[in-house]
Amino acid sequence: MRGRYFDNAATSWPKPSAVQREMGRYLRRIGGNPGRSGHFRSVEAGKTILRTRTAIAEFFGACDPERMVFTKNATEALNTVIKGILKAGDHAVCTSMEHNSVMRPLSELREKGVSFDVVEANAAGIIDPAALLCALRPDTKLIVVTHASNVTGAINDIEKVVRGARERGVCVLVDAAQSAGVVPIDVEKTGIDFLAFSGHKGLLGPQGTGALYIGNGLLLSPLITGGTGSLSDREIQPEFFPDRYESGTPNTVGIAGLYRGVCHIRDLGLDKVLEHDGRLLEILLNELSTEKRVKCYGPLKRGKQTGVLSLNIEGLSPSEVGGILDAEYGIQSRIGLHCAPRAHRTIGTFPDGTVRLSWGVFTKERDALFTARAIRRICHRGE
Ligand code: ALA
Repeated sequence: MRGRYFDNAATSWPKPSAVQREMGRYLRRIGGNPGRSGHFRSVEAGKTILRTRTAIAEFFGACDPERMVFTKNATEALNTVIKGILKAGDHAVCTSMEHNSVMRPLSELREKGVSFDVVEANAAGIIDPAALLCALRPDTKLIVVTHASNVTGAINDIEKVVRGARERGVCVLVDAAQSAGVVPIDVEKTGIDFLAFSGHKGLLGPQGTGALYIGNGLLLSPLITGGTGSLSDREIQPEFFPDRYESGTPNTVGIAGLYRGVCHIRDLGLDKVLEHDGRLLEILLNELSTEKRVKCYGPLKRGKQTGVLSLNIEGLSPSEVGGILDAEYGIQSRIGLHCAPRAHRTIGTFPDGTVRLSWGVFTKERDALFTARAIRRICHRGE
């Protein structure tokens, strides 16, 4: 059964056929290790990486592509900044909507003398930039803020956060795992210091791809060190970008595919993506609005959230609902805490969590209608 895929916030599916073709072409025709050897396979592999780096830099408004560093996912990008910038005695501020990819590295650093405060979002998962800025202290070195919640889809006003942080000389790390390829982001215009994102969600690339943008003038300790194919006579890590942060053989085949994913989204246009996400949200909300047993969480407004809807059915656990959707209707959702326990505390759904439906550019309006009707049927089972 093909089913209906509503788990795009975990990873997007399907991928554009151009992504699949590009990866096959890379494996068949190229296949060398980039920047390591002088033969054509290595040179072509290097060009493959450069092409994707340049496309991503353009997509996010970064003038210098070398400051766009490849990682294996958003988690690695977030860890690179959090562990690369915060030292004993430093203070950080984050929000209650952060994923464990932020909360766990911060908690780990607490053992090493770093302190942090968590600013509460409202019950829809929206963060008040003023409250975030109020939490800054003279020793605050970093603000970590999710651009869009993976639980409610709520989109935050990162421009306001960055503006306020700049005035106070504090760096901002934006977690764009859920917003990259969905919400327009211009790192230079906005003045974002660090942007972490995955390549396999909104950007439609394969799993194992992600990136970190490091703003002009900023230098971090790298998360890992090792071979870069550059300055090989030296046993210390190069300082220049992107080599400083890209040790070891990269996921070149994945990065080759990511290029096509980014091209697909760029050609489609983010206004179309947001329009489509909003239309599907409206279909779901309209269909479910008369169901007394259904409770939806989040802004529940077009344009205010990504293609995510978290909900519960009164009297049934999220795992029961998710199980029925999967087994009886072929609808693939994600249930539980979505690796964001604090976010669920904030919206009042801890410890069971929610059923999260998340759609993408290939999800059809009829899929949203089918899914809403399946939920309605589940509400009326046994009547
Ligand atoms: N963080 C991803 C999600 O929200 C995996 O499902």
